[in-house]
Amino acid sequence: MSSSPTASSRDIAVVFGTRPEIIKLAGVITELGDRARIVHTGQHYDSSLSGAFFGNFGLPDPHLLLDGATGPWGRGHQVGTLIAELTREFTLDRPHAVIVQGDTNSTSAGAQAAHYCGIPVVHVEAGLRSRDRSMPEEINRQVVGVLADLHCAATPEAAGNLLAEGVPAERIRVTGNTVVEATLRSLPAPADRAALVERYAAPGEFVLATFHRPENADDPVRLAAILESLSGLGLPVVLPLHPRTRAKIKEFGLDATHGRLRLVDPVDHPTFLALASRARLLVSDSGGVQEETTVLKKPLLIVRTSTERPEAVTAGFARLTTPGPDLVNAARLLLADTGLSRRLAATPSPYGDGLASRRISAVAAALADGRPVPDPLLVTED
Ligand code: UD1
Ligand code: UDP
Repeated sequence: MSSSPTASSRDIAVVFGTRPEIIKLAGVITELGDRARIVHTGQHYDSSLSGAFFGNFGLPDPHLLLDGATGPWGRGHQVGTLIAELTREFTLDRPHAVIVQGDTNSTSAGAQAAHYCGIPVVHVEAGLRSRDRSMPEEINRQVVGVLADLHCAATPEAAGNLLAEGVPAERIRVTGNTVVEATLRSLPAPADRAALVERYAAPGEFVLATFHRPENADDPVRLAAILESLSGLGLPVVLPLHPRTRAKIKEFGLDATHGRLRLVDPVDHPTFLALASRARLLVSDSGGVQEETTVLKKPLLIVRTSTERPEAVTAGFARLTTPGPDLVNAARLLLADTGLSRRLAATPSPYGDGLASRRISAVAAALADGRPVPDPLLVTED
């Protein structure tokens, strides 16, 4: 992006720590160019959840990499330690604005550290609400919602949630969701998809599934029911396992060796999207997958009790299900629906036009420069 006369190098800190944040902030970092200071909290430290995605999006190494404050002490310790470390960084080398994305512990720590240092906070993917206080992410979203100076809402619905909580309209911009351009960028060309897919799935139809939410992974009864439901779908299921889920399957002594379940390590973004684009059906509790499915035009069964992303459900791409007969029956209905692919192909994504990263970098730069924050709808393709 173009720099203003007051712009300086690395003066907009982009703070993140997990796989989906890398995917969704990569475009913003690229648009910011020299102004982006990449601060990785280290929350996700395995290459399969972190480094691989820097490679996918051609990002340079982080300018600052923290140690994640992971360990057995829980959320309070992680958020508190990261706030202290980020506060030190922001005090020693003060950015003009801090960008955070989503709802993780890294998001919360980045927003808190910036706010306590008196630095303007830009929240990307602002305004999502599940109203489920048992979700760590819902609390993180609400904390950041209080602290943010500029809320980049992906959709009018998310902006409406913020307005209903009393956030002044002048602090909200509807930008679209950066996942649209991330998906369009990562999705391999049709000719290249087969080679990626055949490493994970035998020729023929298959289902792609992912699970990592505590409500599913940390509950032995629910996790067992999910694995059993997946093995009863009548199709092979490719299941790239988040390390949290892999650890819980082992801890609970669950049997995941059913012949139709293919448990694999997490895959990189192009491989995941190649698999998703070839799958008959997606089954997941992921937030990002609920959005990507609207770009890929694939049906998704969400295994959750609530969702902060109602747009994909309303548009007909996704529905909430419960592990057990509900999930199996919902899958059978979708698999038998011969007109579904055509209907979904004709349904626009509610998450925008693929220009969100450009809009967000423009409004963040204005905030950092102390200029009036533009209406992002005026920021269009050149
Ligand atoms: C976190 C976010 C969640 C997001 C998800 C994306 C919070 C509260 N949760 O959940 O919102 O949807 O990332 O994937 O911030 N682990 C590894 N290697 C890693 C990282 C984690 O093995 O590189 C294992 C560790 O055992 C760790 C566990 O996974 O304790 C959970 O990791 P954590 O970052 O706490 O939460 P996620 O479930 O990944
Ligand atoms: N993803 C991936 N490889 C995998 C599983 C998921 O690249 O093996 C991508 C997926 O395309 C989506 C993102 O990871 O963009 C979702 O991350 P996750 O489900 O961990 O977090 P959430 O979106 O639920 O916060």
